[in-house]
Amino acid sequence: MTANTRIVLSSDHAAIDLRLAIAAYVAGKGYAIVDIGPTTTESTHYPKHGEAAARMVASGDCALGIILCGTGQGIMMAANKVKGIRCGVCMDTFSARMIRQHNDANMLALGARVVGDMLALDIVDAFLDAEFEGGRHGTRVDMIKEIEA
Ligand code: RB5
Repeated sequence: MTANTRIVLSSDHAAIDLRLAIAAYVAGKGYAIVDIGPTTTESTHYPKHGEAAARMVASGDCALGIILCGTGQGIMMAANKVKGIRCGVCMDTFSARMIRQHNDANMLALGARVVGDMLALDIVDAFLDAEFEGGRHGTRVDMIKEIEA
């Protein structure tokens, strides 16, 4: 991804501090951050935040999304219900690179109660620095899109 690429960020209450840290970090790398909150630690519901971010990616408003909850799992499940979204939860940098290179993932989910802040930033770097390889992987991603259709 190149500088000025628009990246939407969202989370539930369990991941606000990590989301803000990621937002500052990614903005510092030159990306255009669209942080859609929430802004308070009041208990909220991850599906609506995952859906809101996913719709911004699916519409083309943002090229990529990074979403967070306690485990990353619930918000990932919600995002993946939106047509056109391929979101994976990553707890390691290898997976984060691979979901871009092989799966053309357009969203990354992180679990703020699972990974530490420094590892989370490394995972974000791996995701953003990787490019989809196409070829046989494109055939497989097309198969995913056919299931969705
Ligand atoms: C909130 O307590 C927690 O359930 C949520 O952040 C997430 O981990 C769900 O998948």
